[in-house]
Order: sequence, then C-alpha cells, then structure tokens
Amino acid sequence: MSKTKTKFVCAECGYESPTWLGKCPSCGAWNTLEEVKVLPKNAKRDSRGMSADMEIFTLNGAVTSESRRILTGISEFDRVLGGGLMPGSIVLVGGDPGIGKSTLVMQASTRVNSEVLYVSGEESVNQINIRAKRLGVLAENVKLFAETDFERILSAIDKVKPKVVIIDSIQTVYDPNYENAPGTVTQVREVTARLMQLSKTTGIVSIIIGHVTKDGFIAGPKILEHIVDTVLQFEGEKNHAYRILRAQKNRFGNTNEIGVFEMGETGLKEVLNPSKIFLDQRETETPGSVITASLEGTRAVLLEVQALATPTNYGNPQRVSTGFDYRRLSILLAVLEKRAKLRVGTHNVFLNIAGGLKIVEPAIDLAVCVAVASSLFNKAVDGEAVFIGEVGLGGEVRTVSQIEKRIAEAQKLGFTKIFLPNGNMKSLKGKKVENVIPVKNINDVFNGLF
Ligand SMILES: Nc1ncnc2c1ncn2[C@@H]1O[C@H](COP(=O)(O)OP(=O)(O)OP(=O)(O)O)[C@@H](O)[C@H]1O
Ligand SMILES: [Mg+2]
Repeated sequence: MSKTKTKFVCAECGYESPTWLGKCPSCGAWNTLEEVKVLPKNAKRDSRGMSADMEIFTLNGAVTSESRRILTGISEFDRVLGGGLMPGSIVLVGGDPGIGKSTLVMQASTRVNSEVLYVSGEESVNQINIRAKRLGVLAENVKLFAETDFERILSAIDKVKPKVVIIDSIQTVYDPNYENAPGTVTQVREVTARLMQLSKTTGIVSIIIGHVTKDGFIAGPKILEHIVDTVLQFEGEKNHAYRILRAQKNRFGNTNEIGVFEMGETGLKEVLNPSKIFLDQRETETPGSVITASLEGTRAVLLEVQALATPTNYGNPQRVSTGFDYRRLSILLAVLEKRAKLRVGTHNVFLNIAGGLKIVEPAIDLAVCVAVASSLFNKAVDGEAVFIGEVGLGGEVRTVSQIEKRIAEAQKLGFTKIFLPNGNMKSLKGKKVENVIPVKNINDVFNGLF
C-alpha cells in the first residue's frame, strides 16, 4: 500500500504548498493554509472518467428535452433561479443560522413535480418530519435520508434516482477518501466537486445548503462559489419576519433578482408585493424620509431612503451608509455642497435604505439627495412624492432605465407626485402618464420643496 501524502491548501484561493506557511504566497491571506491528507485513490475510481464511448459535440444549438427547467412552484424562488432549476446544475443556498434555509428548501422540494432526495446531516428523519408536519408539506415525492458519508449518499442517489438532490448542509458531509473532518475546506471542496460531476453527467439538480461565517460569507473555500452554478443568499433580520433571497451568482439567470418572503409558523410565504412591505413602517411626517423606485432585477420596487444630518461639533464630519455605496454618498454630498450650496461639510450624514436592501443602481441618487436636504432643512417632504433620477457631478438629473415600470409601481401604490428626469419624458411621449413632474437639476427639485 502506498503512503498517505500530505499537502497544504489555501482556504481562500486553493493554492497548494508542500509545507505549511503562515501567509499564502498566492492571495496573501494569513493563516488560511490547511493540512490535507490524500489517501491513494483506488484503482476502480481512477478508471471512471476514461471510457471508449467518450463523445465530443458540436456547438450547433441542439438542446435536448432534458434541459427544460424544473419549477419549484414557489414563484419567488423560481424567479431568483432565473426561471426554475436548470437540470444538471448545482445550487448553493447560504444564510445565517436559523434564518430558514431548511424551511425554504423543504417547502420548494415538496412542490417539485418529480422525485427529490433530501439528505440531512443535521437533523434526524424524525425532526425533519416534525418540521414538515408543522409546515403542512407532507409529500410522497420527497425521500428522506439522514446521512453524512458521501459514498453512502451516492448509493442512495443510485437507489432513489431523484431529479433533485438536497444536501443539508454541505458542512456536515464528508468524503471517506479524505481523513479531514467534515466542514473542513478539503471536505467541502471535494464533496461539492464530486456532486458537480454527478450533476453534470446525470442531469440531477443538486441543491446544497451552506453555513455562513461571522462576516456573512459562505463558509468553506471561495472556490466553492466558483464550482457551483448558482449562489443564493438567504438574508434577513432574525427579529423581523421578512426574508430576502438574493442571487449572488447565477450561470442561468439575472443576479439582480430578489425573492421576498415572510416567515411565519406555517413556514415561508411569498410576498408578491414587496414595495408594500418596504414602505410598511414609514412615517410620512419625518424629515429625511424619501421614497424612490428602484429596479430589482426585472421588477420595480418602492423603497424608503432615510437620511439624518446632524451638526459636527468637532473634527471631521462622519458619513455612514447602510445599503448604499459609501463612495457614491460622498460624491452626492459634494454635489450638494457645490451645486446646491447646502452646508453638508459641517454635518454628519447617516444614510439608510429601510428594509435591509442593498441598492447599487444610481437611479436612487435623487432620492438620496432629497433625503439629505430634507434632514438638513428639518422639513419633511410630501408623503405622496416619489423621486427617481441619477444625479451627475453638475447637479443635473440624468435619465434612468425602464422609467415606465417605475412609474407604474409608484402609481399602483397611490403616489401622486412622481419626480423624474426631464430626459425620460421623450420616451413617455404619446403615452398617457399622469402625475409626473419632470426635473432637470437638483435645484429645480429643492426650489419646489424647501
Ligand atoms: N413553531 C414555529 N413558529 C414560527 N416560526 C418557527 C417555528 N419553528 C421554527 N420557526 C422559524 O424557522 C426558523 C428555523 O428555520 P430553519 O430550520 O429552516 O433554518 P435554517 O436556516 O435551516 O437553520 P440552521 O442553520 O440551524 O439549519 C426559526 O429561526 C424560526 O424563525
Ligand atoms: Mg437547517
């Protein structure tokens, strides 16, 4: 028998070294090299991938009928996936402990119209059944298997022949060919790589649940996110009922899509009108609170931008931003100072996107500017108003994409004053739109409001 070999692998970038090093020479991260013992591979597995019937194909657009997506029946989930589960794909669902990952995946699995194998390394079959009963989602198509040994899981897959296999969670499963403990970088990476091989060759969809670390990253090597096709993050405040499912990476869909859910005793309910919940706790008479319409994937969502400006007593003014790019905020504050002559330089500015969303698109710039000005003047803006527009360095309000969708969403929720970029009026020509107020410059907006 040949000797067990040892190598050291970086958890961040996968760099391999024959000796342990404190700092990874490849990515520069400290203390990320982990010892990996490699047992000699058995001959049977070595011969696997090589066979006489290897086929090479032409890029001719030929698509087999097996490539049809599998719908989970939860429309918010399907939309984030890009229209359902793509056969042969591998989906990673990450999220904080107790946020509802198992619940989401279980609810989805019972609605899938084909055989599902639910492998749990964290809960016993009994515990899973208790949850399923509470959720009221008992289903014949879902087979349960409480196991952590990956070889045995493969045998179960062979036996059940599911269309979808769920691994809850990847940190509990281990490949017995490696001596490392479950949850270590090597195990997580190897198990995922073997699952991917299985999915690509058989068309089975693998959904793997992953824990996240203290910093909110999916535990395990970064390369795990490279291996899988789709990375979904399930987020939310534990103390709030709302949960957001967000695609961080998707080989088969738009990554801007979000799915919104509400957690209750009977599990997760889809929230089909997210604007309403994001505006739920708004107080219309508060200075610094402004509504905008942002595009989240294919959907327009109304959001509340909150700003608080307080005088700086000493030192440099503070700028704190939650849910909005900090550098973008600094630029907008400079524009307000220079173009609108607002004294932001002597004020601390705190900005928050209510509801826990993170917004990257510049179309909410105008709302950010108005919110800051409203707080500075200590004057609330009209509760019926929505502000849409990108703000340029000259203080000009620039056109944004898909204005009609945004207007429609604002009108749906009863807003009667929609401030939008003058440049967008061209695209609205000939269409019947009411209650819109075109603006060219931030000063136009401020003169009317304050
Ligand atoms: N009886 C109940 N009534 C209401 N909500 C419940 C009930 N039981 C559980 N929950 C909710 O479900 C959540 C746990 O969901 P779930 O087990 O799916 O989370 P998870 O992300 O898989 O957690 P873990 O990381 O521990 O596996 C709880 O935090 C709670 O919000
Ligand atoms: Mg769980």
